[in-house]
Amino acid sequence: DGQPIAVQGAMDIEISVLLKEMGQYKQETHGNYSYYIGRIKGIPVVISRTGIGMVHAAASTALLIEHYDPRAIINQGTAGGHDPNLRVFDSVIGMEVMNIGRLSSERLGEGQGIRPKTWKFVKTEMRENGEIKEYASFKSNPSLVKAALRAAPKYKYGKVVIGKVGSSDFLNREVDRIHWFHKKAGTSVEEMEAASVAQVAIGFNIPFLSVRTVSNSEVSGDKIEDLETAGQYCAEFAVEIVKTMGNGP
Ligand code: 5AD
Repeated sequence: DGQPIAVQGAMDIEISVLLKEMGQYKQETHGNYSYYIGRIKGIPVVISRTGIGMVHAAASTALLIEHYDPRAIINQGTAGGHDPNLRVFDSVIGMEVMNIGRLSSERLGEGQGIRPKTWKFVKTEMRENGEIKEYASFKSNPSLVKAALRAAPKYKYGKVVIGKVGSSDFLNREVDRIHWFHKKAGTSVEEMEAASVAQVAIGFNIPFLSVRTVSNSEVSGDKIEDLETAGQYCAEFAVEIVKTMGNGP
């Protein structure tokens, strides 16, 4: 039947559109993670609800790969804006994803306080065929980025940009911290899964793509915060990307 395209969302609101699009599907669970197996426009897909956060995302991705051998993994959903030019409901094709919770501090003694602005990002080591490679960030697969760009004109809820997605187990609402990430790491948005999914997918040599719709922003001036609607919009975009990819290699 051919390898499926996997589409992940952390929460129900990020996968419900995909389940509706499949119509009929079979549900399987591995550990506490749910996988929904079916087709979109005849294309074999596995929809995966990862749960929220880096650890759930990594564990559910490893199980996804072991059980379904996907030809590509699309991680998608909501995100908080870091780039002031991104409005709520704009979407980001995450050309690059980075674990922005991977940091080290300088040595400070008791009573010397905490100085987040001096923290340094730490690279991720990957063992590849016995050799250690260091990654400051992970790249989405170029052919998948192209497919997303081809699907982008179908996205009507805002603009679509290419950008950098920052992931960590930290929901940041401090404007100065958001500015700091944007400046130091060049992040367009933040969320809590993409970098851990990318790390696992790259370890297994599986093409990965990150796509996110802005659901909230402390820096754009938008007062709306709507995860449910952004979750639907991103999933609709993911459906268009799957259709664009088709049954090809
Ligand atoms: N910061 C971090 N994660 C966010 N998400 C949406 N907005 C933000 C934000 N500002 C996403 C995460 C996680 C859930 C909280 O929604 O990816 O799954």
